[in-house]
Formats: sequence, structure tokens, C-alpha cells
Amino acid sequence: MKLLDNPASPYCRKVKILLHELGMSDAVELVQTGGHPTAPNAAALAHNPIGKIPTLIRDDGPALYDSRVICRFINDHASGSFYPEGTIWETLTLEATAEGALDAAVLMVYENRSRAEGTQDPAWLEGQWAKIDAAITVLEQRWMAHLAGPIDMGVVAVGCLLDYVDFRHPDRDWRAAHPALADWFEKFGKRDSMRATIPRNP
Ligand code: BEZ
Repeated sequence: MKLLDNPASPYCRKVKILLHELGMSDAVELVQTGGHPTAPNAAALAHNPIGKIPTLIRDDGPALYDSRVICRFINDHASGSFYPEGTIWETLTLEATAEGALDAAVLMVYENRSRAEGTQDPAWLEGQWAKIDAAITVLEQRWMAHLAGPIDMGVVAVGCLLDYVDFRHPDRDWRAAHPALADWFEKFGKRDSMRATIPRNP
């Protein structure tokens, strides 16, 4: 199998963390894939009409996307426990919370990248940040017990969210108002799978 990947993408990182946690990193070849929202990558477009990564190219079936579908497929394929039946709705809701905040964090990056210096829309940027801030607040208020439990894809997605915020929005100090989440992330970030997939520019 091949994964259309980008080392800066938090969505690709979810998949790579899962593969690492399952001891399956060698089963998937990573194919570095560039692209821009207004000029999607040709390889991604060939397998995914939306042209987005991650896209998983399988040897024995159509390509899979997006990260939630790919992670669920890999977990099932490996009989993993990252979508546990007993807490499936909590796991999926936590994953969706982190993904929604990630979408906002990536839109902020695109707003800054696509527009000339000084022409970015501050209301748009702050509107996106408000979504991330609300998600982080809910994580601290409602999800700490879940985060302290067994690792699942919701937990992985939160790790990817917090590291992506640090990577792309380092001026936003989310830790000061969310000390419990900051403590959890300090420990979670030390996992081998997190260290092996630290985001970087391609
Ligand atoms: C980034 O450069 O931040 C990025 C790259 C790919 C997907 C999402 C974000």
C-alpha cells in the first residue's frame, strides 16, 4: 500500500501514528505529495476527486480517503483497538472535535499563505481561532478522563491537533488557560509514535 503523504499535514500524521502504534510502518510506502488548495496535486487527484491527502492507494481495491476512513480501515485490517466498540461514539466524537479544530487551524495557515502580507482578513483568522479555542476548552472541561485512558484514534487526533497548533500557530498560548490538557500533552508527546512523526516543512 502507498500513502500520499506530506510531513507537515496533521491528517497524514494521524495515519502515520496509527501505523507506528500498530507496528505497521513498513507495510505502507510513504509518497511525498505537495499541493495547494487552488492547485491540487496530480497524483492525489488521480486517486481522489477532491485531490486531498492523506489518500491510501491499495493493491487490491480503490483508494481510500480521508484520514478517518483510512485510520478505520487500517485499524480493522490489523484488528487494532483504536476504534473500541465499547466507547465508539466517544472515540468518534473526540476525533471529530480534534479534526474540526484542525480544519480551522489549517484554514488559518492558508489565509496567511494565500494572501499578500497585510491583506489577510483578521476577522476570518480570529473566527477560525475561536473554533480552535472552543475545542481546546471543551477538551479540558469534558475529555480529560478519556484522554487519560487507553489510546484510541480520538486521543491520537487530539495529540496531532495540539502539536499542529504549536507548529503553525506558536504565538497562540493555549497552555496558560488549559493546564490539565497541557500536562497531558507533555506526557503524550513523548510516545515513540509522536516523536517519530514530528511535523516539519517538506
Ligand atoms: C501545512 O503545511 O501546514 C499543511 C500541509 C498539508 C496539509 C495540511 C497542512
